[in-house]
Formats: sequence, structure tokens, C-alpha cells
Amino acid sequence: PAPKADGARGLRFSPVAPNTADQVTVPTGYGQNVVIRWGEPILRGAPAFDAGKQTAKAQAGQFGYNNDFLSLLPLRGEKDRQVLVANHEYTDEVLMFRGYDAQNPTREQVEIAWAAHGLSVVVVQEERRTGRLTPVARHHLNRRLHTTSRFELTGPAAGSALVRTSADRAGRTVLGTLNNCAGGTTPWGTTLHGEENFNQYFANGSSATDKRYGIGTGATERKWERFDKRFDLAQEPNEAHRFGWVVELDPYDPDSTPKKRTALGRFKHEAAQPRLTADGRPVVYMGDDERFDYFYKFVSSKRMMKGGSRRAHAHNLTLLDEGTLYVAKLTGDSPAAEIDGTGKLPNDGEFDGSGTWIPLATASAKGAVSHVPGMTAEEVFVFTRLAGDKVGATKMDRPEDVEPSPRTGRVYVALTNNTDRGKPGKAGADEANPRNLNKHGQILELAEHWDDPASDGFAWRLFLVAGDPNDPATYFSGYPKEKVSPISCPDNVAFDPHGNLWISTDGNQLGSHDGLFGVAVHGERRGELKQFLTVPRGAETCGPLIQDRRVLVAVQHPGEIDGASVEKPASVWPDGPGKIVRPSVVAVWRTDGSDIGV
Ligand code: FEO
Ligand code: CA
Ligand code: CA
Ligand code: CA
Repeated sequence: PAPKADGARGLRFSPVAPNTADQVTVPTGYGQNVVIRWGEPILRGAPAFDAGKQTAKAQAGQFGYNNDFLSLLPLRGEKDRQVLVANHEYTDEVLMFRGYDAQNPTREQVEIAWAAHGLSVVVVQEERRTGRLTPVARHHLNRRLHTTSRFELTGPAAGSALVRTSADRAGRTVLGTLNNCAGGTTPWGTTLHGEENFNQYFANGSSATDKRYGIGTGATERKWERFDKRFDLAQEPNEAHRFGWVVELDPYDPDSTPKKRTALGRFKHEAAQPRLTADGRPVVYMGDDERFDYFYKFVSSKRMMKGGSRRAHAHNLTLLDEGTLYVAKLTGDSPAAEIDGTGKLPNDGEFDGSGTWIPLATASAKGAVSHVPGMTAEEVFVFTRLAGDKVGATKMDRPEDVEPSPRTGRVYVALTNNTDRGKPGKAGADEANPRNLNKHGQILELAEHWDDPASDGFAWRLFLVAGDPNDPATYFSGYPKEKVSPISCPDNVAFDPHGNLWISTDGNQLGSHDGLFGVAVHGERRGELKQFLTVPRGAETCGPLIQDRRVLVAVQHPGEIDGASVEKPASVWPDGPGKIVRPSVVAVWRTDGSDIGV
């Protein structure tokens, strides 16, 4: 049984110590199971996984690679079942294929990678006694969407000359979604999926906008351009403009075409999590994960319709096509001279200040209007980063996942790190990004004026400045540092049913493995950070999802260490020695059957 532990309600567990074990380590009294692994068959007709005989056809019916964002949706009418939706961000060919020749991938290998990207929908069965989850193969809702599946562009950039290609002269139908990182779940029962580092898939970029989005001028590492000319921008210069969007998926309708919502702008979308205004309009918070890039929000002009009618659902599927896109500008309230780049607190004792949401463009049924001088509305939506540059948005330390608290409405922005801050020619520390050569990252807390998510102004403060608590340049909202777990590189954020914030990490710089942490955000224990689990060697922790009875995490890229391969594995998780390493989803629960952390 779990020993009686101290802590905020929902966080009463004995913290897991930092470690380098090649396993998922959970607190005493907790159990775990692998819910689903890369390659497990989920669609009718898909074969069992066989690493040595993998085919593209098999992969298209199996769970994809490198699971990231996770959502669990209720499934009415089926006892103890829920619908799991997962992102598959990217593939690690050298860990997937024995004898992989990076200079000469085969067509079959490339097509397996195409099929291993994208999204999975899979119904899961709950075990009554514990929080264990197992997949229900061949359920009619199960679905795979990957690099050759059909997606529709909607909103202000759909049909624009900027997104037309030789294969799609109308500029409305895209094949595939790529690099789906974090995401969100809407109150109307759909899921949102950020297309993040799409730049890596496109060869021969040449425009200034390609450059701003990080698209290289030569061949890609993956060499997909050899097998489909749309990945060669010299031949299809607009194809890259069709990626970098937020995808909206209706997991309850297996025949629906997922939508790329262009009103939410195009950048390296990390996540998208909505909150409703008092009058029912969704506001979606979003980060652009790049050093010195921005965070955004989209305010819909349409109100969500309640109730489960067909008409309400059809209406709600248009909410993200009309509204205004904003970018954040932050101003500190302490004298600039007190922000010395070391992380030393300014004299008022807090990294804090005010912020404004700068409107970039508005989309409506009558057309779209730009608010950025010198750019058309279509340009703002397709080249959103350049719009942010023009209006002087605040350059942040890699805005990753963004999550509004369902309890308080305060918004939490994970800023993973930025080792370039303060380098010659780069922006130096400011109050929101107070450390130069920032290895460990921070979490920003934002409160909209009048608690109105549609407000054009906000107050902000840093909730957490990450690192080893013995390092004076860390901050845990003033909570005694000897009582908190060390943390580095906050990446994904989620709330539990008690209103605590949970944080998963990517790229721990403290010499131990990545993991998952819980922390109270209000009350006396605000800032009391506790580590809940750690992941295997080379892995990052993604997609945390905290329900009453279970914690779900996506263990992404286990074994991803420089020089590792199928022949020379760095991790043998989850199946042990002699077995290929497999990214997988893990459920963690109390062995005595009670709720997490109570
Ligand atoms: Fe895919 Fe920004 O992590
Ligand atoms: Ca991420
Ligand atoms: Ca201050
Ligand atoms: Ca990441």
C-alpha cells in the first residue's frame, strides 16, 4: 500500500527520487501497465507487430511511433470504456530498422515512416479494480491518420494562392499531418493537434519565409523528397505552407475528414488548449516552440452550442474558423538593471509584469482583415511568425505546452529552455526570460484582465524557475526549496481533478532521466513540486493526463541516445533484453484501488 504521505490533495505520494533506471519508476504503492506500444494492431486486418518484418501496410493499421499528446474522451453506452487519442510526432528510423542506412533509405522504410506518423484513435477498456487500461482492437471508432490520409484546410487561408499545389489546385485538400506534438481537448468533444517541427520534412527551401520557419536549403535527413516530390520545395514550393497548423479531429466520427484550422495561424504549433469566455466563445492558447519565438491566442467570434444535437455539433465544428488571432507582448515591472541574466530575483521579489495581446488578423464569414501593416490577412495566417516579428511580440524561451487552469482560468506556459539567450547577437535576459544561456526553463503564469479570456491585457509572473533547488537561480513561488524535487526542461502541462498542475519534462539537464511532476498552484503549498515518475533511458515524458484513478503518460523516444541503433540499443524498455525498444503509453494507478494522491 501507499505510505501515508504529506502534500496537497491529489499530491499525497512519496516523491520518486531522480534516477537513471531504464524503466518507468513510480511511487511506492503505485502500479503501472503498458497500455499500448508502437506497432500494436488497432484496425481490422492489421497483423501483430513483428519488428523484423514490418511493412507500411501493417503499420497503417497499427499504433504509430513516438506517442506524444494523449486525450481520453468518454464513450457513452459502452461499459468502462474510453476513447484514447494519441499523437505520433516523428519516427526514429535508426531505432526502428535493423541495418538502417541513413544515406539510402528504402522506399518501404520511408513508407513505414509515413504510416507511423500522425494520429491514432483507439478505444480502451478500464479494469474495475485498478486503473489499468487495455486497448480494444478492431473497435469501429479505432482509426489511424498518417502522412497520406486526407485533411481539409478550413478558415481564412483555405483556397489561398499560398497553399495551392500541382496536386491540389483548389488549395483545400492536404495529404497528411506531420510532427504532431502536444494538443488539446475541446469542450465540444473534439481534439486539437499541433503540427510542430514540420520544417524537417521539406528539402530545398529557398524563400525568406522558408528560412524563418527553419526549412533547410538542401536535402533532408529523412530523404522523403526522393520518394514523393511534394517534399521537394524546388518542385512544390507551397507544400510546406500546408503544414504547421492546428488539426481538429472528431474522434466520434470515424468517417470525418480532420480539419487544419488556418485561423489559428501557422507556426511550430506545440499545443492548443481552449477555455470558454463567459458568453461561450472558445479562446485557444498556443505556443510556438522555438528559441526566441512567441505565444499566441485565438479568440473565436462564435459561441459554442450546448447539448448533443447534430445541429449543435455541426455548429461547434465551425467555431475555430472565425475570430481574431493575437500574439503576446510582455513587459516586466522591475528596472531592467535588476534583471542581470543570472536568475537573481529583482528587488520586488518577483519576476512579474503586465502584458498585451496584439491583434494580428481577424477571420470572418465576410473575409479576413489584417491588423499588421504591410501584410495581407492571408499572409498573416500563413506566415504568422513574420507577423509576430513585425508587431514586436516578446521573444520567449521556447513556448511549449500552454494550459489554462479549469479552476482559476490562469494560463500556464511551459518555457522549456533557451541556451542561446544572451549569446552575442541574440536577445538577452528580460523579466519573463530572466536567465541567459537558460538550460532548465521556467513556467509562466498569466491572469487575463477581469478573468476574461478574450481580454486584450493580462498580468503575468513566473510560477517556477526550474533547475536544482540548491541552485540559487531557481524559484518555486517562494516555497521552501529543501522540500521540492529538482526539475529541468518543463515541456507539457496538465491539470488534475483537484486543480494541481502536472508538468512533464523533455531534456533534463541535471544528469537524471526525464519525468512527471505535480505541484499545487494555490494555497499554502503553492510551489511544492513533487516528482511522480521517471521514464527510461533516452526518453522524454509526454502527454500527461491525470484522472481520478490513473495517470497516463506517453513515453516518447526511449533509447534515443547519440550512436544508439537497433543493433546497439541504449534502452530495452518495455519488453526487456533482446527486444526492440518501443515508444508506448503507460497507465499508473494506486494498487489499493483508491484515487491518485489522496
Ligand atoms: Fe515536440 Fe516542442 O516538443
Ligand atoms: Ca513537446
Ligand atoms: Ca518584478
Ligand atoms: Ca519536446
